[in-house]
Amino acid sequence: MNPRLPSKLYYGGDYNPEQWPESIWQEDIRLMREVGVNIVSLGIFSWAKLQPSEKRFNFGWLDRIMDLLAANGISVCLATATASPPPWLSRQYPDVLPVTADGVVLQVGSRQQYSPSSRVYKKFAAALVRKLAARYRKHPALVSWHINNEYACHLQECHGEDSTVAFRNWLRARYKTLDALNEAWGTAFWSQAYGDWKEIFTPRRAPYHCNPTQCLDFRRFINDAFLSLSRMEAAILRTATPQIPITTNFMGFFKPLDYRDWAGVVDYVAWDSYPDPVDEKAARHAGAVGHDLMRSLKPDRPFVLMEQATSAVNWRPTNLPKRPGLMRLGSLQTLARGGDGVMFFQWRASKAGAEKFHSAFLQHVPHDRSRVFAEVKTLGFELGKLAIVAGSVVKNKVAIAFDWQAWWAVETESKPGRIDYAGWAQTLHRWFYEKNIGVDFVHPGADLAQYDLVLVPSLYLLTSPDADNLTHFVVRGGTLLATYFTGIVDQNEHIVLGGYPALLRKALGLWVEEWCPYPDGRTNGLGFAGDRKKYACDHWCDLLHLEGATALADYTGDFFVGRPAITRHVHGKGCAYYLGTRPDAAGLDRLLSRVGREANIQPILKTPPGVEATLRESAEGRFLFLLNHTDRTTKISLNGQRGRDLISGKKIVRTTTLPPLAAAVIQLDR
Ligand code: GLA
Repeated sequence: MNPRLPSKLYYGGDYNPEQWPESIWQEDIRLMREVGVNIVSLGIFSWAKLQPSEKRFNFGWLDRIMDLLAANGISVCLATATASPPPWLSRQYPDVLPVTADGVVLQVGSRQQYSPSSRVYKKFAAALVRKLAARYRKHPALVSWHINNEYACHLQECHGEDSTVAFRNWLRARYKTLDALNEAWGTAFWSQAYGDWKEIFTPRRAPYHCNPTQCLDFRRFINDAFLSLSRMEAAILRTATPQIPITTNFMGFFKPLDYRDWAGVVDYVAWDSYPDPVDEKAARHAGAVGHDLMRSLKPDRPFVLMEQATSAVNWRPTNLPKRPGLMRLGSLQTLARGGDGVMFFQWRASKAGAEKFHSAFLQHVPHDRSRVFAEVKTLGFELGKLAIVAGSVVKNKVAIAFDWQAWWAVETESKPGRIDYAGWAQTLHRWFYEKNIGVDFVHPGADLAQYDLVLVPSLYLLTSPDADNLTHFVVRGGTLLATYFTGIVDQNEHIVLGGYPALLRKALGLWVEEWCPYPDGRTNGLGFAGDRKKYACDHWCDLLHLEGATALADYTGDFFVGRPAITRHVHGKGCAYYLGTRPDAAGLDRLLSRVGREANIQPILKTPPGVEATLRESAEGRFLFLLNHTDRTTKISLNGQRGRDLISGKKIVRTTTLPPLAAAVIQLDR
């Protein structure tokens, strides 16, 4: 069980040979070898080509390209091709088409036009996967299966007949009785009590706010519906090829799917990352934080970056190319944060279709005149020098408790204010990122023994066992920082009464009486004890009462002027901080510096601003990654460490100097 990818650095991308005449394939393979490509994701959108009609299959072309790749030493991550059903399927079985909350049926002509609960879709998808598995199970090119593609990327819910029935069945399995459902959904409110399962629907368009627990359960159901599709495919593949690892491409901070559930389906995590180069500073953090979230899903093994762009994408209103050097640095950042694969969408830029302006290894221009081609070739060459890094892992002392269920709950309508759950978690992460302090993302109920500091940003939905877990972390000596709107509701989205956040009240040594969310642009101030400097805060202000905690900062304005905004509470052997508002950058820096000191958190390396430092470790060695994201030649002190830069081959003693957008991967001396 749980086979691994053979340990090496993977370099390649989506390959769609079905869009091209076979006469071009030889050139494709020759150029793949020239740039060092060692893997391709094949056949992701080829269902219509593989099965042109219900009873007709056409595997000849796939046989030929699989053989060609194998003969040239290029591995295949073979797709199950189920992401985009062919037009004949919905013509013959219109019920496979998804239906929106307004009752609109989404049609063919794009991709992903299937309901995740469609019985017909499942039947045909399973049959196709069975055929592929039987045909290619022993093929020498096959190293991995690629199930479907970016589940739920465009189609995030369905309200059709199959979905309605499946939702009712899901609810029956969860609640057993209507009484239990009525209780959980709080249907005494607004005369919503259900007397028959058939009265229950998916949350379709309604006159006003939908029942929030119904909405939350619908999100859980949709996640499970897509999950069961992936499990269906995985089960078929595991029976046919127990030794071949399975993956699907995740999408980082993607709200509809709880990727912690999904991590159990795949053998290794793969994901797609497309930060917008229009803001390079934001983009490099977006890449880093996405890698950290994805790596944390299966921390014992490297992940693979399944897709990124060699340069521009095609799907933003304005699509900036990546300027020279950016693609390479972003690719090395993947390795730096625990990835063993750097892959792209796609190998050859399409000539037709909606993605023809998306960049690729091979652009539309002759490759020997292409800047992008020159850059991917250099990158392929460099990855060859970094082979020893493969299999090493990242170990951190700081974690952010992040939970999709809380995300779903806090962002349903009718809340005191709008919380951008993932955005707030990323804001906190960024402070650590800029200091070269590694951060993992964990479930609030996870084993926290390896961490010294755990941050809990606005964990609105908090179950009692998870609250106990966080409390025990503090009691055992950990440092915790929880922020506003944490621990407000239980798993049914019912308020936990007794003073917010009732389940963490003891650990935090306080209770919140009320809050004052601010509209955009309105601010308050923060005054820290013993500091004359004032800091701004905005977005949210908790009005809290101390119950053992001490105030670190008070509000400087509004009707609650002088009341505590930031607190610290010693509890057991540890300490719990509470942040009742959103401070400006300077205020956050002041608080997090203090919290980090208390937890004795050290950076990997202190570097000049804009230089990212990370560490990967294995039995082979310790690898210090240094990435200079700035446009300045920058000297970096290694703080007494020494080693060899695997990219330049040079010995590094005491310091190294990196030109703009350059990187070093230093194998540290033991
Ligand atoms: C996603 C998809 C690919 C392609 C790219 C374009 O990641 O998986 O098929 O559409 O986006 O950026």
